[in-house]
Amino acid sequence: MTEQNSEVLLEVDDLKVHFPIKRGVVIDRTIGHVYAVDGVSLSIRRGETYGLVGESGCGKSTLGRAILRLNEPTSGSVVFDGTDVAKLKGEALRRSRRRMQMIFQDPLSSLDPRQSVESILLEGMRAHGLDKDKEATDRRLRELLTAVGLPETALRKYPHEFSGGQRQRIGIARALAVEPDLIVADEPVSALDVSVQAQVVNLLEDLQDELGLTYVVIAHDLAVVRHISDRIGVMYLGSIVEEADADALYENPLHPYTRALLSAIPVPDPTVEDNREQILLAGDLPSPAAPPNGCRFHTRCPWRQQSLCATDRPELRDVGGQRVACHYAEDIRDGRITPHEVEPELVELTGALNPDLGPPDIGTAAEIL
Ligand SMILES: Nc1ncnc2c1ncn2[C@@H]1O[C@H](COP(=O)(O)OP(=O)(O)OP(=O)(O)O)[C@@H](O)[C@H]1O
Ligand code: SF4
Ligand SMILES: [Mg+2]
Repeated sequence: MTEQNSEVLLEVDDLKVHFPIKRGVVIDRTIGHVYAVDGVSLSIRRGETYGLVGESGCGKSTLGRAILRLNEPTSGSVVFDGTDVAKLKGEALRRSRRRMQMIFQDPLSSLDPRQSVESILLEGMRAHGLDKDKEATDRRLRELLTAVGLPETALRKYPHEFSGGQRQRIGIARALAVEPDLIVADEPVSALDVSVQAQVVNLLEDLQDELGLTYVVIAHDLAVVRHISDRIGVMYLGSIVEEADADALYENPLHPYTRALLSAIPVPDPTVEDNREQILLAGDLPSPAAPPNGCRFHTRCPWRQQSLCATDRPELRDVGGQRVACHYAEDIRDGRITPHEVEPELVELTGALNPDLGPPDIGTAAEIL
């Protein structure tokens, strides 16, 4: 990132997305909420790559989708290049969407199998009036394919004729077609073979250098975002528990949850691997429909203390240059308190939990136009 790019492009403030849980045959009653995103604040500079990590179900995709207004925020603001996107309506919202695009986790299900690559790429350009001149449009289509490393002949083919990695390249070209400033990449490589993952990550990095793009890259695995990210935010049950420059987070994780996530990554050196401390988290991730009081991590935290942890929700605060939501971050950092065994707590399934809640909808191209 260069000096001139230090301006903030995206500012998210106390963003909440709560999904109502409905029950009832005749009248729909709201019997609770899934607190998928519950008070997230972050800011992203132009040209930066912000990695967002956390366990499955912690709200990463919902946050990414809420930034693009694909999920309606319950409260809070999303200021993109000076405009609060959370308040935009109609044509103004549609116009702002051109500047923010999404790359989806599963390239096959997010590409319409009945559309040729040409029509997939043209769809967004058409929706935003970028296809006026036939010659310029043809040139642009060829440029897009070259940019993502696909041959021109790809234009007449259909998604099923490509490999997983190639399909993700089509997904990237689709996002690029409308010349966005910000791309939210939701697990862009997790459906791909390990050997292909690096190629797609490298492609994203090259495109960023060339086009000055700003990225939010979502992953459940810290190892995937390490190299691509300038900064990383770690999410747990709907909020960010730690945020730091990528290197600082790996070298000096302060939040117990970040420490546990990092300790789960194997180290290539066998001596280090045998001796390193592994923090195994007791119990399952609590339901976002019934998050624990106090610190949301207290039911699984090996550093949990008698006071505060179970009663007061810690704010994300500055601790030596990184932001940490833990009452005892300094004591943990300086070794004044040490980890202990945690008895797994039985998480009671209450009526507020709706077992019928399937996986969230996967976004489609049509949705983001
Ligand atoms: N449209 C929806 N309606 C109701 N609940 C939803 C909806 N979308 C997501 N959720 C719930 O919100 C919570 C967060 O989901 P989300 O998909 O954002 O998590 P995630 O961190 O992206 O997980 P994963 O790593 O599995 O993709 C989950 O409990 C999920 O079931
Ligand atoms: S506030 Fe307490 S429970 Fe939460 S992470 Fe810190 S030590 Fe653990
Ligand atoms: Mg997700």
